[in-house]
Amino acid sequence: MSESPSQRPSPQAGEAPTRPAPEPAHAQEATRGRGGNGAILEVEDIHTYYGAIHALKGITIEVREGEIVTLIGANGAGKSTTLRSINGLNHPRKGAIRFQGQDITNDAPHKIVAMGVSQSPEGRKLFSRMTVLENLEMGTFQLKDRSTFKDDLERVYTLFPRLAERKTQKAGTLSGGEQQMVAMGRALMAHPKLLMLDEPSMGLAPIFVERIFEIVVEINQQGTPILLVEQNALMALDVASRGYVMETGHIALTDDANALARNEQVQKAYLGMD
Ligand SMILES: Nc1ncnc2c1ncn2[C@@H]1O[C@H](COP(=O)(O)OP(=O)(O)OP(=O)(O)O)[C@@H](O)[C@H]1O
Ligand SMILES: [Mg+2]
Repeated sequence: MSESPSQRPSPQAGEAPTRPAPEPAHAQEATRGRGGNGAILEVEDIHTYYGAIHALKGITIEVREGEIVTLIGANGAGKSTTLRSINGLNHPRKGAIRFQGQDITNDAPHKIVAMGVSQSPEGRKLFSRMTVLENLEMGTFQLKDRSTFKDDLERVYTLFPRLAERKTQKAGTLSGGEQQMVAMGRALMAHPKLLMLDEPSMGLAPIFVERIFEIVVEINQQGTPILLVEQNALMALDVASRGYVMETGHIALTDDANALARNEQVQKAYLGMD
């Protein structure tokens, strides 16, 4: 069970965002996505089910080159299900998903990872009896070309110096914040063209939350577009360029992140402001 947004460590309600929204690092490449409109990921009116449960009732979102896009919403709204639909774990029954213009709606998860869609899942899902380094190596599983392994590892250790110190420690014995770092590091080892993060700040102390969001921005500035699922709406809207607000299987609102952060409805429901 997730915490409610108001219990989450987050800046004081009403406090102005401290960090300006990052400039898309690769804005100049905005026309490169093959889906038209610079979109690297296009999710078009998808309907996804768990048995008879109609979890997603027509979700349409897109992520363009260079962007951080956030998906916010209450518990059970369908955020994780949207990511599970994209990464092939739960195929939609209706609608289409395109990555770099190519239809991946019914592709197998390993194929989607190999194409460059990488996710740090909710609840981290590490191999707890394996070391930090072995967990990071697991991220390279689908890579055909492993010649960049050393550089990739160096990049992860630079982003997360703590992991370099702990590389021989069993993942199961790490703190929650450190485990989150391994999960993100593992996703980065796969050389993602699109990185999806499911609640990276979940359960972390404020100091770790700050650091995780800084790293999200850093990864994006190094050129990776990011789809960020968060309940910490204030922080997510602070780093994102655009956002979608989900409510029980629907997109209730979409706008620039700044506009969403100022939206009265969003402030009431997700930012703890009255
Ligand atoms: N394996 C499952 N079997 C049946 N129903 C499921 C399953 N997983 C999710 N659901 C249902 O689908 C809906 C969407 O769930 P989802 O996990 O996508 O929500 P979420 O927005 O990620 O919520 P949270 O913020 O709590 O993580 C919920 O009503 C949930 O109960
Ligand atoms: Mg979820």
